[in-house]
Amino acid sequence: AVDMSTFTKQTGFNAYDPGFVNTASTRSAITYIDGDEGILRYRGYAIEEIAAHSTYLEVAWLLIYGELPTQSELAEFSEKVRRHTLLHEDLKHFFSALPHTAHPMSVLSAAVSALSTYYEDSLDPRNPEMVELSMIRLLAKLPVIAAYAHKKSLGQAFLYPDNSLDFIENFLKLNFGNLAEPYQVNPVLVKALDRLLILHEDHEQNASTSTVRLVGSTEANLFASISAGINALYGPLHGGANEAVLTMLGRIRDSGESVSKFVERVKAKEDGIRLMGFGHRVYKNYDPRAKLVKESADEVLADLGVKDPLLDIAKELEEIALNDDYFQERRLYPNVDFYTGVIYKAMGFPTRMFTVLFAIGRLPGWIAHWREANADPATKIGRPQQLYVGPAPRPWPAGR
Ligand code: ACO
Repeated sequence: AVDMSTFTKQTGFNAYDPGFVNTASTRSAITYIDGDEGILRYRGYAIEEIAAHSTYLEVAWLLIYGELPTQSELAEFSEKVRRHTLLHEDLKHFFSALPHTAHPMSVLSAAVSALSTYYEDSLDPRNPEMVELSMIRLLAKLPVIAAYAHKKSLGQAFLYPDNSLDFIENFLKLNFGNLAEPYQVNPVLVKALDRLLILHEDHEQNASTSTVRLVGSTEANLFASISAGINALYGPLHGGANEAVLTMLGRIRDSGESVSKFVERVKAKEDGIRLMGFGHRVYKNYDPRAKLVKESADEVLADLGVKDPLLDIAKELEEIALNDDYFQERRLYPNVDFYTGVIYKAMGFPTRMFTVLFAIGRLPGWIAHWREANADPATKIGRPQQLYVGPAPRPWPAGR
């Protein structure tokens, strides 16, 4: 790698790199990806081993602090998160001001931005203790905000977090419990959701993480930076892809069109359609997370006794695409989002909640990167260059 600031000083040349395809904006010790080999590691540990042995909060600790926690560190961390789950009662009025048709991603980003108005005591990005407090508040409250956005869309009452439950159980209860009857925790769903969130926890300098780092580079507070990350995640080419996959599968089912005909239309780039959930900027091989998600899809659907034709369509699409020259030449493989939607749907989440679940998953990674960038003396305010291609100097029109 070339250090561009030295290169530019020495040669006077700048790099023009749309989409930052070949420009490293930072050093990072958090996540390693080898896209050609399909390898993903958090802090040196293989994603397959992490998914088999760990939990969401333990992985959050690993990403944020760099090492696995001891048992007592993890217990203390989980307890702190548990104690901060309650939302300020006034913040609940915020939800009443929004239409029930609001997209939960918009609700999520707006509510996280609003957190900075309630927690002004912890905004100072230069005070490590306050950053720690904001971090715990976010980890604890984001799932509650997400569940309230879901309940609001259904017109149902918000539940209070239940501190007798663990992190994932609590989240499922807040989404699917009601005031009339006790909530039965299904351990298969808890395990599957924990695993899906773990798989989303970090993915180095993707669009939303780069956004969080960029906003953080201005010394904006953690809530403001994470809210910006949520907005970056919203787009269908990034986190919104999981929602787009399910919409695509539903359209194929409803149209009665054969899967192979649909693939032909994708290859012909008819109306610019893409096979959503396929392709990745970095992975030019099977996304290692997609393999694990596919296993979970089979487990969850079998446990719930759900037979979803959308899963069959997804498997057929994968089979056809993996054996097709168009996808092989471009090295397009299923990414993490190809099967997640099928699982979330089986769990009972509406399609519009899918990207919200991704955001909860990605939160620890965003926090880890924000902290890493803040602690790195090499961090400067992010300020890309441009190549000016507008008009040459010209006089103001006479008489105007
Ligand atoms: N379906 C059909 N063709 C595709 C797809 C796809 N999903 N993805 C890329 N291609 C084709 C492009 O048309 C292009 O073809 P060409 O060479 O004939 O012009 C070629 O593959 C390269 O595509 P780019 O857009 O240059 O690849 P890039 O790395 O910029 O894009 C991206 C990566 C955005 C993920 C892309 O593959 C895509 O749009 N996929 C669908 C959306 C999706 O699943 N996003 C989730 C990403 S993972 C995540 O955020 C968690």
